[in-house]
Amino acid sequence: MSQFIASPATTLSGDLKVPGDKSISHRSIMLGSLANGITKISGFLEGEDALSTLKAFQAMGVKIERDGDNVTIHGVGINGLKKPEKALDLGNSGTSMRLMSGILAAQAFDCELIGDESLSKRPMGRVIDPLTLMGAVISSVDGKPPLKITGGQTLKGIHYDLPIASAQVKSCILLAGLYAQGQTCISEPATTRDHTERMLKGLGYEVRVNHNQICLTGASALTATQIQVPSDISSAAFFMVAACIAPQADVTLLGVNINPTRTGVINILQLMGANLTLSNQREIGGELLADIRVVSSKLKGIDIPQALVPLAIDEFPAVFIAASCARGETVLTGASELRVKESDRIQVMADGLSILGIENQVLDDGIKIQGGEFKRPTAIIESDHDHRISMAFAIASLRCEYPITINGVDNVMTSFPNFVELANSAGMRIVEV
Ligand code: S3P
Repeated sequence: MSQFIASPATTLSGDLKVPGDKSISHRSIMLGSLANGITKISGFLEGEDALSTLKAFQAMGVKIERDGDNVTIHGVGINGLKKPEKALDLGNSGTSMRLMSGILAAQAFDCELIGDESLSKRPMGRVIDPLTLMGAVISSVDGKPPLKITGGQTLKGIHYDLPIASAQVKSCILLAGLYAQGQTCISEPATTRDHTERMLKGLGYEVRVNHNQICLTGASALTATQIQVPSDISSAAFFMVAACIAPQADVTLLGVNINPTRTGVINILQLMGANLTLSNQREIGGELLADIRVVSSKLKGIDIPQALVPLAIDEFPAVFIAASCARGETVLTGASELRVKESDRIQVMADGLSILGIENQVLDDGIKIQGGEFKRPTAIIESDHDHRISMAFAIASLRCEYPITINGVDNVMTSFPNFVELANSAGMRIVEV
């Protein structure tokens, strides 16, 4: 089991480019594979999660070439996938499993989706239920992976009110809808990331969006295109918080995706008083990008508006570190989804914060954090093998007087393979052992 030892540091500076967006990288492989023609992707995330999706489509007969972060996909068309020889192992990646189950439910062949220990505990009933309504046949034990999907079903379009705000569930149903007879419509209880809708349109597929409802009609084709993956705001978030809390910081994060369905972390940090500015805003391939400059900030605790929760859902481990360094109390509610991410992010973060001497109270659907000081010597934090928890506690070293040890950091590779290198180039002092 690998560890980070993050030693105290006070300065953070430089122009930093974090790797490609994970959500967009997954979708680029899926839709590029189902398109007619050759799709060229640049800025692809070379993290284990996106690579799990890539390998799964290779196992289904799609020729995919990779040269660093450039990927070329020889699309097989919407009906061109082949039965994989064995179960598709999706590692730690919930996005791969949930989105791919929508595609695989509509294939002529049977297949099985498996994952690692963490993924095997994550709820899949949320995709099995709507897919079953569409006519899919999927078996699992207690709604958890492995998923056994029986092919050869004819899917029909549905109108589905999403019971939870989840882009993964929405995307799964939209992808199944590509194969379904008639129209598929989904209503969202709150806005969630819309990369699937944007990319479908980019590949020439008609998607109709009206307020909170997204509709498409099955049986059209996707046309190959070029996809430039912007930097991932979820990875950039660690450096935004790091720059806010570091005593001396001036950092610019280059070319970050600022799709409005993803910018909750910017809004939350600004409400907390972050000295954060956007510049050089531009649109590339249907996605918005900007450079984000953050300098040392005096943060204050806030009540996080619930409407921002789905727009910052992956950034809360980093936000909790910001809250720990803020003056006063920060309260998060309406975030019970955090309990079913790669770990129970409310409890695992709360345990780590308590070890560092930060007062907090766990709520069913959130947490209350009292800003304070990280003052415990020889702190050993358990990340529960959750990549975002490992990185969140690593940046806490910018406000520590003693090194912090973080256990189980192996999964940082799933989303941010060069995290340590980039953090150290900016002034942090993290060693992986
Ligand atoms: C993702 C959606 C989010 C997010 C996950 C990636 C996606 O999950 O937490 O890391 O790519 O659609 P939910 O939509 O289930 O909240």
